[in-house]
Amino acid sequence: MSRIIKIFDTTLRDGEQSPGASMTTPEKARIARQLDKLGVDIIEAGFAISSQGDFDAIREIADLAQNSAVCSLARAAEKDIRRAAEALQSARKPRIHTFIATSPIHMEYKLKMKPEEVVKRAGEAIRLARSFVDDVEFSCEDATRSEMPFLKEILAAAIEAGAKTLNIPDTVGYAIPKDFEKFIAEICSFVADRAIVSVHCHNDLGLATANSLAAILGGAGQVECTINGLGERAGNASLEEIAMTLRVRRDLFGGADTGINSKEIYAASRLLAETCGIEPQPNKAIVGKNAFSHESGIHQDGVLKHRQTYEIMSAEDIGLDRNRLTLGKLSGSHAFKEKLKELGFEELGEEEFKKAFAQFKELADRKKTIYDEDVRSLITSESANVPAEFTLESLQLSDCSGGFPIGAVTIRRANGEVKTDAAIGGGTMDAIFKAVDRVSGYSGQLMDYKVDAVSEGKDALARVTVKVIFDDSKPAVMGHGLDIDTMKASAEAYVKSLNSYLAMKDRLKTKDRGGL
Ligand code: KIV
Ligand code: ZN
Repeated sequence: MSRIIKIFDTTLRDGEQSPGASMTTPEKARIARQLDKLGVDIIEAGFAISSQGDFDAIREIADLAQNSAVCSLARAAEKDIRRAAEALQSARKPRIHTFIATSPIHMEYKLKMKPEEVVKRAGEAIRLARSFVDDVEFSCEDATRSEMPFLKEILAAAIEAGAKTLNIPDTVGYAIPKDFEKFIAEICSFVADRAIVSVHCHNDLGLATANSLAAILGGAGQVECTINGLGERAGNASLEEIAMTLRVRRDLFGGADTGINSKEIYAASRLLAETCGIEPQPNKAIVGKNAFSHESGIHQDGVLKHRQTYEIMSAEDIGLDRNRLTLGKLSGSHAFKEKLKELGFEELGEEEFKKAFAQFKELADRKKTIYDEDVRSLITSESANVPAEFTLESLQLSDCSGGFPIGAVTIRRANGEVKTDAAIGGGTMDAIFKAVDRVSGYSGQLMDYKVDAVSEGKDALARVTVKVIFDDSKPAVMGHGLDIDTMKASAEAYVKSLNSYLAMKDRLKTKDRGGL
């Protein structure tokens, strides 16, 4: 009989804490739909008290999730728990996840609290959370640098107060698999069947997946992870690595498995990367661009003769269909709709579909073959319904043969006003962005700029991602632009980042979360 390990996905909470990964509510909702389809047991949709944006996203995800439980993070504080409960009101399966730090260094310097006060605070928070929902998870932040006797004391108090899942985070990525397995085994034997023991591993030493798997061997019944390993600093344990290791090495994990539908992994990975503009490294296990490509002649020869000579799993297992059907100029709206469905974009309303189809047709006129990646990019670059205050109407560039580059843009405002202006820049991109600043009246600082070819061929679409700060007290916002012409895509990306900033400015988290 197989032992089912619960997958707690924190892409939309811890993953979003990754620098530059902030997402809008519609973007988070789209990812949550895919997580639900992927079969994660719990979606941690955000940290309700941290911003209005997080609160709204949790609320929307609570409404849409069909199978997964939906969770909000909350510090062990009354106002946090009340806000989490409010955001989760419509969830079919709501969970409140409350936490407090338990390591000596965190208690003394961050919390400035005595251990007994920490235990009392945890108990009160859990009891309050239980007055709203049945399913309460408690985390001992920085557990791997906490003292075992104290951990046992606080976990016993948490069980007594009604927590059903006890999470042991390796907050700073400090654990080593062999020790961590023993550490978790000791906690599991202490907790016994009074609660589910969970782990939450960070990747500072590159060991997050290895530690999560070691914890499963030690008896953990839940692992917390993210798509593509996205997360604070070096990231969190990667969902796809854990799920596929359990599947491929079933022999070593006593039959432990997850409820993940592995054929949805690739779609989830691409959707996240396209949405937040953070690509997994090319050699990233399972979802990296090179994960299933064989370059060396000896390997190619072996794979052609018998695939398992060099492959321990197949691309199809994660939903990467190498014989995918592509679209072209003659494809009609029915084929396009089918493709959107296959790629997980069935939620598009009629207007959005019409717009996407028109964009597809326009692209098909300029590009011979439209790949899945192109379609994904077309949909995600539309910033998932961010209201467009500014629309780029045209872009003209000249560099006066060796002189200063000049960019001229024409931009339409939502109220119909059309304005044209030009600027000189240190380089072409600088000139374009300055021209947009002049027309819009906003001034952005460019923090990051990236261009990727979306698919193959000389006529590949350029996907430009910019990260811009429009207000020093707020985090950077992202913008994506998509066009065969890289300069046009750059201008689009910058204008879209401005639209995102304007749509979210009152909801963006302030940089300091502070407090407990
Ligand atoms: O890393 C951590 O300790 C966390 C907790 C809030 C669970 O993210
Ligand atoms: Zn974390």
